[in-house]
Amino acid sequence: MNILVTGGAGYIGSHTCVALLEAGHTVIVADNLCNSSAETLERVKQITGREITFYQIDVTDAAATNTIFANHSIDGVIHFAGLKAVGESVEKPLVYYYNNIVSTMVLAQACLKYGVPRFVFSSSATVYGENQVPFVEDMPLLPSTNPYGESKAMSERILTDIAKANPDWSVALLRYFNPVGAHESGLIGEAPAGIPNNLMPYITQVAKGKLDKLRVFGNDYPTVDGTGVRDYIHVLDLAEGHVTALAKLTAGVHIYNLGTGHGVSVLQLVQAFKEANGLDLPYEIAARRPGDIAECYADASKAERDWGWTAKRNLVAMCRDAWRFEKSVSRGRFL
Ligand code: NAD
Ligand code: UFG
Repeated sequence: MNILVTGGAGYIGSHTCVALLEAGHTVIVADNLCNSSAETLERVKQITGREITFYQIDVTDAAATNTIFANHSIDGVIHFAGLKAVGESVEKPLVYYYNNIVSTMVLAQACLKYGVPRFVFSSSATVYGENQVPFVEDMPLLPSTNPYGESKAMSERILTDIAKANPDWSVALLRYFNPVGAHESGLIGEAPAGIPNNLMPYITQVAKGKLDKLRVFGNDYPTVDGTGVRDYIHVLDLAEGHVTALAKLTAGVHIYNLGTGHGVSVLQLVQAFKEANGLDLPYEIAARRPGDIAECYADASKAERDWGWTAKRNLVAMCRDAWRFEKSVSRGRFL
């Protein structure tokens, strides 16, 4: 299939490009490079030995986006392009709502105009809010405390309504849990600008000596050891979930969790990282981070039942691959 991947130069998008190319699909990337680098796409080509057609455009720009649909016979869209920093979304709500929602509407409109039957959307476990774990796809969503989460819930709603009105259209709403790790080549991975917000890139930068110690945000949660519990999933497993979604998608709206189904605490991840890589990792306990929930992990059984998809790579692989990428990176801003 010819697949348009928006945000394909980003962290999850670039790994998904690898998985798509390895599965034999043709990939067209649309990315404005606001949080990524074109060099990443060169590395995807290096890994796969395949070509990618790249458009440096903003997918909120309807005219530029429509040009891609006019130039290619597209069979499916995977919409990764979006802004994702929770804290920044509180400070710049309009920027987040505009970018994340308008991009979704522009792409949906182009799909309908050009008869593109498949749409796969990057949603997030954040839409479950403080529901009871494990999170199941048919739970009522709880309002999130930030514009980022709201932009995901609203995009889900918009796509659901469009699909209801266009019964031939196929939409997958994929709710990601916590992607970590990197391609085993060490060529692509997660390279956030500035001080990382997320746990794994923070850990790898402490291990490298770029940051002096990890601050563990709270050890008084009602969890196994008091620290926050998340469902960490290897980014390549997540990437392969998209290839499966494209293959299995039928008409209508389909919601799937992409997680492992296992909760891991902050201290358990620190321990796993130390053991997997034979390193020490200095940390201290700090105050809770505002907005964090105690536990977030998936009921991952629906994707397995319906699609035969499960995450295969374990915590050791996640830690080793994340560290290999951190070590190998000769960094520009995003590499
Ligand atoms: P990322 O920032 O690495 O990738 C996003 C890409 O989209 C970047 O390359 C950026 O340049 C591009 N982009 C953003 N706005 C654009 C626009 N208007 N037009 C064109 N390109 C644009 O982020 P990621 O971690 O790869 O996340 C991909 C998607 O998955 C996002 O929608 C994110 O909200 C969602 N998601 C991520 C996580 C996570 O923990 N990483 C969890 C749940 C959901
Ligand atoms: N944590 C620390 N210290 C740090 C960073 C994080 O202790 O320096 C803790 C957090 O308190 C939390 C856990 O590590 O308990 C994971 O935090 P992350 O920031 O890595 O991930 P979150 O679960 O908070 O959020 C991420 C993305 C969201 C997405 C969500 C989906 O940032 O955009 O996963 O589950 F919506």
